[in-house]
Amino acid sequence: MGYQSKLLHHYDELNTRQRIRYNLMDRFRFSAADRFFFEGCRGNPGQMFLAERRALYEAILRHQPRHCFEIGTYTGGGSTFFLAHAFARLGKGKVITMESDASLHKGCVDFYRKRLPELFPFVEFVHGDRVEALSPNIGDRLDCFFLDGAEDASQTMSQYLFFEQFCDQGTVMMAHDWHTEKMKDLRAMLPEAAMEWRIEVCLDPPVSVGFVVMVCEGRKQG
Ligand SMILES: C[S@@+](CC[C@H](N)C(=O)[O-])C[C@H]1O[C@@H](n2cnc3c(N)ncnc32)[C@H](O)[C@@H]1O
Repeated sequence: MGYQSKLLHHYDELNTRQRIRYNLMDRFRFSAADRFFFEGCRGNPGQMFLAERRALYEAILRHQPRHCFEIGTYTGGGSTFFLAHAFARLGKGKVITMESDASLHKGCVDFYRKRLPELFPFVEFVHGDRVEALSPNIGDRLDCFFLDGAEDASQTMSQYLFFEQFCDQGTVMMAHDWHTEKMKDLRAMLPEAAMEWRIEVCLDPPVSVGFVVMVCEGRKQG
């Protein structure tokens, strides 16, 4: 992949030569917002492309959920970092993020405690691989959830079906890798799902590997 294409993705994809070029030249052509989303969390590489990070962040500002439940923290430097930043900007709410890998989970907690203490009030790290463990945090109504776990279509589907029972009009669902194997079953099933979903944002290649923001319009009739 060429340098220009990588500028649509994120800083951590650049090799050493490309980083020098970016820091000496292109960084100054980027707006402050583009720099924020492109560069991400220095010292903690995460996933998600520039446009996806921006869409995730803006969805939180637009909908102002009390919580966003995330599956798949990874290092905490990608989606979690931007979700936590959005809640910090709102000054309320938090991302509750679940990671199955114990060492990644511990690394996130340590990193945020030491390096990002200002974001710590806006993020809660949960270690586990069973989405059902999040039930006590949800309460009676689910405001927002984000699916970005394993590249496993049936696991993603189970996670969706768990969250669906708490959905109501206005619940926001976001999903990454919308065009990959991870989302294959959910993509096919959604037209038949119990809830009606309106697509608010849909990003496609080359700026995304598929990222969607959907808003629940309520339970389907009949
Ligand atoms: C694609 S990565 C997430 C990337 C992250 N959202 C980012 O933007 O940097 C998927 C992560 O989900 C984790 N994972 C896999 N199965 C899981 C499960 N059942 N529950 C929670 N996390 C899971 C993996 O260990 C991996 O860290």
